[in-house]
Amino acid sequence: MTLPLYERAEACGKVILVGEHAVVHGQPALAAGLPGGLTLTASPRPGAPISLQIPAWDIDLQLTADNEHPVARACLEVLGYCDGPVTGWTILGDTGLPCQAGCGSSAALSVALARLALGPDAPQDEIVEASLAGERVFHDNPSGIDNLVAASGGLVKFIRGAPPESIHFKGSVPLVVIPSGIPRSTGAQVRKVREFLTELPSVVRPLLGVIGNATLAAIEAIESRNLKSLAAIFNLSHELLSALGVSTPALDRLRDSVLELGARGVKLTGAGGGGCLLALPPDDPRPLIAALAERGHAPFAVTLRGS
Ligand code: PMV
Repeated sequence: MTLPLYERAEACGKVILVGEHAVVHGQPALAAGLPGGLTLTASPRPGAPISLQIPAWDIDLQLTADNEHPVARACLEVLGYCDGPVTGWTILGDTGLPCQAGCGSSAALSVALARLALGPDAPQDEIVEASLAGERVFHDNPSGIDNLVAASGGLVKFIRGAPPESIHFKGSVPLVVIPSGIPRSTGAQVRKVREFLTELPSVVRPLLGVIGNATLAAIEAIESRNLKSLAAIFNLSHELLSALGVSTPALDRLRDSVLELGARGVKLTGAGGGGCLLALPPDDPRPLIAALAERGHAPFAVTLRGS
């Protein structure tokens, strides 16, 4: 008998505004869901192995026990956690998110797959736990922020092990995401910070605490609509992440040119080493986006809407 999957499920992508890496070590972080991140559609294929196709990410995999591809292993972990099927389905993914770029692509996949297996009425906690079984394949110590935001959407203050807090604010905050096109491994970046912390705890621990304080200051800035402070926090956060060793000369050069083109504040977002930058643009983000596109980048606008 083929075990069931629901027909369709969605999950958000995410951007981390402040607090990446520090969040792994217990500090607060602030992240926003990117709506319409990934949609999965399942159709029965009796007797055949489960196949996963996500053309935008060049993924075309059979989810069989001997497949060593990390995406296949992560998906099998999620389906196993959910007591889901082992054969009999084709799963097709539709997404506009870049992959492996710090926009939460792996968490979106794990969350959407958990929803396909557990259904739309499953509690969010259960979806997040199931999806973390997949995320642990990509790096062994995920804080859980990506998975939580992929499931919840919205603007969220996240502290590892504590209930997440939705941040409510008035108006909107425009942001621009700029993919660097440089691939990186979240696991390698997280390991680098852990090794630095082990080597120099008296220096690195306070640095992580300052990043946590920057998160709290960013929440205050958003709540009081103080975009000048938010821009300063973005710029400072980039320097702090750079001090942790997770920026690169290429990312720093891209950041300098985004600032020269008029952004108020710019930082790397996510694990660093490559991936994306996140900018707070001037009131009208269009000239910044056009100038970046002219230089061959593929920036996209994200608007945080208050509630
Ligand atoms: O998924 P990424 O590459 O955006 O990084 C996730 C954020 C980290 O803080 C670096 C890791 C984590 O588990 O929180």
